[in-house]
Amino acid sequence: MSAIQERSDHQRHEGEEGSNLAKQLSDTITVTIGATVPTGFERTAAEEVNEKIGADARISKDRGRIYFEITTENLPLIHHLKSVDNLFVVVEEYTNYQFKDQKEEALEDFQSLASKLPWTNPLEVWRLNNSLKKKRWRRKGGNGGKARASGKDRVEAVTAETENLQLESGTPERGSGEPEGDPAFNGTQGELDKNTEEQEEGSVDPLLKFRVTCNRAGDKHTFTSNEAARDFGGAVQDFFLWKPDMTKFDVEVLLNIHNNEMVIGIALTEESLHRRNITHFGPTTLRSTLAYGMLRLCKPQVSDVIIDPMCGTGAIPLEGAIEWQHSFYLAGDNNDMAVSRTVNNINHIHKKRRDKGSTAWGLPINALQWDLCRLPLRTGSVDIIITDMPFGKRMGSRKKNWDLYPSCLREMARVCRAGTGKAVLLTQDKKCFAKAVSKMGGLWCKVVTVWVNIGGLHAGVYHLKRTGAPFGTTPEDVREPRGDNETAGGAKED
Ligand SMILES: C[S@@+](CC[C@H](N)C(=O)[O-])C[C@H]1O[C@@H](n2cnc3c(N)ncnc32)[C@H](O)[C@@H]1O
Repeated sequence: MSAIQERSDHQRHEGEEGSNLAKQLSDTITVTIGATVPTGFERTAAEEVNEKIGADARISKDRGRIYFEITTENLPLIHHLKSVDNLFVVVEEYTNYQFKDQKEEALEDFQSLASKLPWTNPLEVWRLNNSLKKKRWRRKGGNGGKARASGKDRVEAVTAETENLQLESGTPERGSGEPEGDPAFNGTQGELDKNTEEQEEGSVDPLLKFRVTCNRAGDKHTFTSNEAARDFGGAVQDFFLWKPDMTKFDVEVLLNIHNNEMVIGIALTEESLHRRNITHFGPTTLRSTLAYGMLRLCKPQVSDVIIDPMCGTGAIPLEGAIEWQHSFYLAGDNNDMAVSRTVNNINHIHKKRRDKGSTAWGLPINALQWDLCRLPLRTGSVDIIITDMPFGKRMGSRKKNWDLYPSCLREMARVCRAGTGKAVLLTQDKKCFAKAVSKMGGLWCKVVTVWVNIGGLHAGVYHLKRTGAPFGTTPEDVREPRGDNETAGGAKED
């Protein structure tokens, strides 16, 4: 067969496959989609769902989750959401499940549950979602290097991840030195595609591999998440005759238990979507999903000048430059390694776009090394300042923050446009931050504070508004001595 013929056969196949998929999507099923989101940003995520999908999202009692209904024709839209970490399709939801007081009885209930659940539509959505991912990521392939589990017995293959949701949402997003990876659908994608291809239309392959992941929060349960996952997983295996596999699974069944609430779902994402933009990670790289939430708080407008003066790996300005392209972003850090990571991350995205044949102009972002306490910027030249400050744990120290925070706020107030400028600042050093802001009452006023969970730490995202007072006219402008690092530049201008 000639190369041209091969190509045209391939194109025809792709076309047929595309129209098959379109047909399947339009054979409407309505399902509930669940999404895990950065805790504290549930409302922001619900707004985004409404804006992009037109659905009203429910915010779960169990923080960090939202739920919304969609029809299958809208299924592709869920992958446009930027504030969600993981997506799943809900199989069944119990708002007041009566877990038995005796452990054995409670576990027996898990065993009998599997065969009673309405699996058909959620599994159809899982299958459609795989076809979507396959189309989207066709050229990527690979299985993310995950090893095949050697143990075949069901107890080994059924896993429980966390005992407590607080712990789960505290996964090491700061400082985990995460591996380079594909932004959204890597992991076992190659294998997943293979299995999807092998499936008969409308049927579920009995040779599928699966695992159950249980997240449990609440102190009234007589069972552990491991036990729940094991017993429920055993029953799922018996019901579908799927093969348990802890590491190289096709289907991930989720068992989320929060006090008396229980949600059973099927995962639609293999790994959290928060890694999407970053390839060069630093010690405190922020989740892109959280960066998105922070950016949404300050509503970037066309031609706004937006700076992240402590950019680290550039997670915030990169997310901004991709999602709000009509603003201009400056990313700076006083650490040269941080600046070069940001530059590498920007270049990587440029390259990826070029490789895909994009002729679009580059991202509206620049990176440079600077000291936040003396920014090389004109007074009143910035519309939005958005940054993730050193918490004083992994980065900097609590002691240094007492000097750094007031200096930061003062210099930020200088460069920020009086009257209209905004700042969205993330820190866990709440006491120090509150003190610094209260000293700067003439320059900044608080709009709202969103409480978030960053790697298990309770932190605040402070949305501040620059007062109308011109810089240099309030007592707050006067710089206090900072010892060796005293930076007088930019303290009083004009
Ligand atoms: C919490 S990290 C920011 C992490 C970043 N959001 C990311 O996603 O990688 C804080 C950053 O502030 C920087 N920093 C500390 N003091 C600074 C100063 N005076 N001027 C500029 N950057 C500073 C540190 O080098 C560090 O990269």
